Amino acid sequence: MKRVPLLLLLVAALLLLTVGSLANGEHAKVGPERCKMCHAIQYNSWVKSKHATVAKLNCEGCHGNGGDYWHPNIMKDLPKAKAAGLILPTKEFCSKCHGKNGVPAMTDALFAQVHAHKAK
Ligand code: HEC
Ligand code: HEC
Ligand code: HEC
Repeated sequence: MKRVPLLLLLVAALLLLTVGSLANGEHAKVGPERCKMCHAIQYNSWVKSKHATVAKLNCEGCHGNGGDYWHPNIMKDLPKAKAAGLILPTKEFCSKCHGKNGVPAMTDALFAQVHAHKAK
């Protein structure tokens, strides 16, 4: 993210709030087809990935339930989207599965391949 440090702090604070509210199950699921409307590139790489076929891990399993952030007016504003439940997961999150039960350990290289494309 290329934003000023103050905003980063704000975003980090919002993310913490977000994780707290997700734990309370506050945000409704909308399903990956909803995300596909605007993120077809990510959808098409995800649907073939082991996350979709083996781990049963979809968009909202990593990015948080979308019920309150999927609307375009919120989605285009990253701090608002995070406040509404959007999560940009970290390697710590990935390690809930990676590095256990034969799933390859998380590395920076593997992390960078989470979406098998370069969107921008
Ligand atoms: C109506 C269109 C729309 C829908 C539906 C939508 N998004 Fe987005 N999303 C956007 C826009 C616009 C952005 C702003 C960044 C960009 O231009 O891609 C964005 C950004 C994102 C980002 C990147 C945030 C960042 O800045 O790094 C993630 C992650 C994301 N969306 C996930 C999702 C997920 C998961 C869903 C489904 C639950 C979803 N989106 C549904 C339009 C949408
Ligand atoms: C295994 C977890 C995981 C799953 C499943 C997942 N994502 Fe992501 N996604 C990530 C990570 C990690 C990033 C990169 C965040 C960063 O830049 O720090 C990301 C980035 C994005 C971005 C920002 C642009 C880009 O391509 O990097 C969008 C948009 C996005 N994801 C949408 C989706 C959608 C839509 C789905 C479902 C079809 C999905 N993601 C499924 C983990 C996941
Ligand atoms: C719910 C468990 C789970 C979580 C959480 C998870 N993964 Fe995975 N991931 C898997 C499994 C299972 C595989 C398949 C391993 C195999 O059989 O090779 C996999 C495979 C991958 C692959 C290989 C690509 C592919 O489709 O084969 C990448 C890259 C990856 N994960 C990145 C991530 C990243 C980055 C995160 C965190 C943002 C993450 N994963 C979170 C379970 C998970």
